[in-house]
This record gives sequence, C-alpha cells and structure tokens, in this order.
Amino acid sequence: MPSPASCLRSRSGGAMTRSTITSTENGVTRRVYVKTYGCQMNVYDSMRMADLLAPLGFSKAERPQDADLVILNTCHIREKASEKVYSELGVMRRLKTAKAERGARMIVAVTGCVAQAEGAEIIHRARCVDLVVGPQNYHRLPELVAKALRAGGDGMIETNFPTEPKFDFLPKAVAPEGVTAFLTIQEGCDKFCSFCVVPYTRGAEYSRPAMQILGEARQLVRGGAREITLLGQNVNAYHGEGPDGRVWTLGELIRRLAELPGLARIRYTTSHPRDVDDDLVAAHREVPQLMPFLHLPVQSGSDRVLAIMNRRYTTYEYRRTVERLRSARSDLALSTDLIVGHPGEKDEDFRDTLDLVGEIQFAQAFSFKYSPRPGTPAASAANQVPEQAKSERLAALQTLIVTQQREFNLSCIGRVLPVLFAKAGKHEGQIVGRSPYLQSVHIAAPRYRIGEIAPVRITAASTNSLSGAIAEAFAI
Ligand code: SAH
Ligand code: SF4
Ligand code: F3S
Repeated sequence: MPSPASCLRSRSGGAMTRSTITSTENGVTRRVYVKTYGCQMNVYDSMRMADLLAPLGFSKAERPQDADLVILNTCHIREKASEKVYSELGVMRRLKTAKAERGARMIVAVTGCVAQAEGAEIIHRARCVDLVVGPQNYHRLPELVAKALRAGGDGMIETNFPTEPKFDFLPKAVAPEGVTAFLTIQEGCDKFCSFCVVPYTRGAEYSRPAMQILGEARQLVRGGAREITLLGQNVNAYHGEGPDGRVWTLGELIRRLAELPGLARIRYTTSHPRDVDDDLVAAHREVPQLMPFLHLPVQSGSDRVLAIMNRRYTTYEYRRTVERLRSARSDLALSTDLIVGHPGEKDEDFRDTLDLVGEIQFAQAFSFKYSPRPGTPAASAANQVPEQAKSERLAALQTLIVTQQREFNLSCIGRVLPVLFAKAGKHEGQIVGRSPYLQSVHIAAPRYRIGEIAPVRITAASTNSLSGAIAEAFAI
C-alpha cells in the first residue's frame, strides 16, 4: 500500500490507499472501510467523505470484512483502473454474502469517477452495490448512507452534476493524516483533451473561494501539517473569488498561503502547460515556501500529436514555459506525464517524444499506453495504434525515463538538502523524509523528530529514493 508520499509521486490509476475514521453516535458504533483508487483528488475526497460520515457514528475498520459500510472510491482514467473496481466488487460480493449468512449487513458504495461515468451500469454489472455516488454529490453521502442503512440498500444512484457547489456543503478538512496534507482548490476541467475522461467525470472547472481555502489551510496547519499540496485537475487554471471581490490567481493564493505561520512548504498539482502565467512564474521566484519541483504534463513531444490531442500548446511553447520557470528558479526540477500510442501517433512522432524527454531532463516522468475511454473523441478515431507498437514505444520511453530519474537522484549525492521528516521508516530508528524534489529520503533519526525540517547530507541514491545523514552544522 503506498504511503501518502508515494501516492503523491505515483500517477493516477496506480495509487491505492485506505483511510478510516473513528466516531460514535448515540452509542451506536458503525464501521467504514474506504479504499481509494486514482489520483490525489480521490485521496482528498476519501478523507472528506470520512469526515462527513463521522456524525453518523462511523468508526474505523481496518478490513472490509469488519465494516458495515465499504466505499470504493474509483478512477476511470484508463481501462485497467476501472476494471480493477469490478474485480474488487467480486470480493465485496463474497464478503457481503458471508456476512448476510451470519445475519450481519454490509452496505457497498461506489464513488469517484467510475460512479460518475457508469452510473446505473455498475449496479447491473455488480448486484452487491447499494449506492453509486459521483464526485459532485459527496455532500449528500450522509443522507444517502442513512437511507441505505434504513432500507438495507437498494441501488440508489446520485451521479448527476448538481448546480450547487459541493464545497459549500462539505466540512473543512479536519486534520491531516501526517505532516503533509492535500487541499483541493479547484475541480473539473474545460479543456477536453481528445483522450481524457476527466471533463466527463468531474464536470466543468470550478475554483473554490480563496477564503474557504485559507480557512482550511489554517486548520490543516493547526492539525500538524507542515507541507500542503494544492490540488486540482487543472490547478493552475485556478480563478477563485478573493475576499476583496476580485478573482485571485494561483500565484496570489500561494503568496497568501505563504503568510500562514507554521506552513513551511507549498506545492501544487496538476498543472497544465497552457496556464503557467507570469504571476505563477514570479511566485516561483519570490516565495521560498513554494517547493522547486513541478509536475507539468507534456503528453507528447510531437506538435502533430499535441494538436490531435487538443492540448493547445506546441513543443516550442512547452520549452519556453520550462525556460521561464527555470530562469525564475534555477534549481527547479520537473516531472511529467506522457502518453504513447495516441491515435495517429507515428514512429517519427514517438521519436520526437524521446528527443523532447532527452532535452528537458525530467527528474521524474510517468508514461502510459494510450487507453481508449468510452465517449472521448480519440476512442472513436479510425487510426488506432496497434498494441504491439504501443508496448514497444512504452518500453523504450521507460528505459530513458528510468535513466534520467536515476541520474537526477545520483546528482543529489554529496548535496545537503532540507528534508521534511514525514513518517517512521520500516526499520527501528529510521525516518522517511521528503526532499524539496519529492524524493523519499531515508535517514537514521528518532521518531520524535517527525515534523521537523532539517539539513540532510545525501550519501546514497537509487532510482526511487535517497539516503542521507542529518547534517545539523549546515545552515539551510
Ligand atoms: N490534467 C492533467 C492530467 C490529468 S490525468 C493534464 O492535463 O496534464 C493524469 C494523466 O493520465 C494524464 O496526464 C495522462 O498522461 C494520463 N491519461 C489520461 N487519459 C489517458 C488515457 N486515455 N490513456 C492513457 N493515459 C491517459
Ligand atoms: Fe484531462 Fe486534458 Fe483536462 Fe488534463 S487538461 S484533465 S488531460 S482534459
Ligand atoms: Fe481518476 Fe478521476 Fe482522478 S478518473 S485520475 S480519479 S479525476
């Protein structure tokens, strides 16, 4: 099971985390088990759902077989991600039947992007499902769960996009699960890239008002967060209402967050290359709390394919954006997402992708074989790329990416980096920290130091992590 840190570094569809809650109502104890698939937005949403259900008396279940309510918070981004849900529902059906034989009940809810995309279809395919709730309706979860508990669950569905902004009805994030926290500031997407389901599952772009975000950030910091990652499917398109009635940009929001005492680090993800405005670049230059690491998905190194994808930037513009950012913050490291085998991609387009990746030198990159998604324009294109070509291209690209990532990690050896001590390591006396570049750093240190940021001299590196020793003598 990935940690919050590895969740942040793993890409959509790959990550899977569990969250649990504890509470009682009128002496009734119920238990909920939440399994989360997909991106960081889902991790954040799972925590919010847990907060919402606490007043109904739900307490923590470590295993689904111990739960009265199981929530599968799903992802639809690639075929594999959504199919995972159906195999998990097979497991839930067996558990539910076994519990029913003992006279016990178990409500099964499917939330997230598969819920939004497939709605009633889920109940037809998996009869054990009692509730299907899309991402825009989580504020209605307590009412729906209460109904399901009374009725024994009867396949209730709530997946339309409502007109009311759900954030007005969700409770503020209560406490982070550690010293790092997620905070959703924007949701949905209006960009309609040819391959992507997000505009159909998360709806139109919506930015939360700045005051709501600042209030939630304050609460997270009070709860112990030292690092906050601002989340959005298109986070740098943020244009929320400010307290002064003006529309605030992401740059403005970051500056204001940086004034919060105790908040040492700020990150944001995922950004779109088209929306990196001058104000955001200036924030990278001027705000020391803003970490010098940016996830900036390019998807392809071919202008022809970028146009087919409807990405609305060229490779020249992407390079220019990277230059602007690097000249604002010379130690900025970049990560990216890449798709191979999008309909219409030829060998020469793929070579352009390899060239761009070679040129930019990403510290980290996530690459995927194009996966046709129902209802998206690319899925019905005639010129699909054969599976064999997709596999070959992915293998070649990943070889390059792994080399770059290892080189970046090796280049850290000998440097002294400020490391946030995030959680206990696997071994006694070991802590896992987070570098400014989101690398995991293994350090020998006592647990009481979790939450501190201290200089660490990096002594070893592998493709996926660093090791080091505390170097107190160094000022950072
Ligand atoms: N908003 C971000 C992407 C969010 S989706 C952006 O615009 O860059 C996360 C990643 O999943 C994408 O960057 C893309 O690389 C990948 N992805 C999305 N749809 C996909 C599909 N149909 N097949 C393969 N990968 C896909
Ligand atoms: Fe999907 Fe494109 Fe929107 Fe990103 S910008 S979420 S890839 S439609
Ligand atoms: Fe997956 Fe939905 Fe996130 S499709 S990547 S969970 S926005």
